[in-house]
Amino acid sequence: MKAELESKFKEIYGKEAAATYTTPGRVNLIGEHIDYNGGLVLPCAITLGTMLSIAPNDDHVIRFSSMNFPQSYTIEVKSSYQKSGTDWYNYPLGVIECFQLRGKNITGFDFLFNGTIPIGSGLSSSAAIEVVTAYALNDYMELGFSRLDLVLLCKDVENKFMGVNSGIMDQFAVAFGESEKAILLNCDTLKFQLIDCYLGKYSLAVINTNKSRKLSESKYNERVAECQQALADLQQEITIHNLCELTGEKLALHKHLINDPTVLNRATHVVTENDRVILAAKALNERNITLFGKLMYASHESLRTLYDVSGLELDTIVDYCATFEHVIGARMTGAGFGGCAIALVETEYIEEFRTGLTAYYTEKVGYEPSVYISEVGDGAKKI
Ligand code: GLA
Repeated sequence: MKAELESKFKEIYGKEAAATYTTPGRVNLIGEHIDYNGGLVLPCAITLGTMLSIAPNDDHVIRFSSMNFPQSYTIEVKSSYQKSGTDWYNYPLGVIECFQLRGKNITGFDFLFNGTIPIGSGLSSSAAIEVVTAYALNDYMELGFSRLDLVLLCKDVENKFMGVNSGIMDQFAVAFGESEKAILLNCDTLKFQLIDCYLGKYSLAVINTNKSRKLSESKYNERVAECQQALADLQQEITIHNLCELTGEKLALHKHLINDPTVLNRATHVVTENDRVILAAKALNERNITLFGKLMYASHESLRTLYDVSGLELDTIVDYCATFEHVIGARMTGAGFGGCAIALVETEYIEEFRTGLTAYYTEKVGYEPSVYISEVGDGAKKI
């Protein structure tokens, strides 16, 4: 993969790549729509990822090419950049803009990306391209930012440059992931703990609905606003800074403050999901996969009914999983509205699972899903 990317770089730019980097995608095991509410999430990096080769140029331009898209882009070096349309190069361009806003001028550079994360599948292809760009420029130019600085910079790209009000989970997971570990991240304090991702006789299956979706066009920002409304309602009587400071029990005591039933449903999902993450992290630590699996199903049900971010495709996958005796837990992962689900499937029944799910899903949805067996991979690095 690296050799292929570097040889393509030479073919396109007529010179050797100066350095090559890689960043993984991520799945979130549990704790969905929690990060922008200041609670706990439990993602892990996966072995699908995005690679990047770079080299400086003296032509006063920034050139972006990708092995995944036919179109390349050349942009004059400027002191400031703006998003233009929705094409993929806006992500690395946003990273350059955010470095410049932090006082680091980025001069001429040539970039070539190659990703294995299915685009728009909810496996953080956008966080991966942001983080790999930030990591590469920081390393190659010796800009001196820490890994956490880069995560925060990439969150700014998403929020301020791309206009999606997402939380910090994706950028954090792809930057800090470690092989065979899940990351228990407190999205308020940014303190985290690595937990052994021991799954016993189970494998982590990632099932892509293959329903195309764009986060910025989805109802994601609407959910963020509904949570802000719930918080503002509750703050009339209680002093909290984010919804996840409440437990399910505490919210029940104060729910009269929230008048809109939809907003109350959103808040109920958030606080009960946060409670579930605590239980799930403990279960994973204690290697209690049965309990972990039950919590996955409960998470999905809450996302389906209270948070309303699932849909026919994701529900069809989870429904099938619930009837297949060699699956111990399943749920949607990421923002929802399409994208991917995850399931813990007994390793020796994976092929049976794949065949059965594909037939069931295709009959209900009208096209096939994709099933990947994922390993828990490493975070951003030079290769
Ligand atoms: C997307 C966002 C994350 C997070 C998840 C939902 O992946 O980028 O910040 O909010 O949705 O948990």
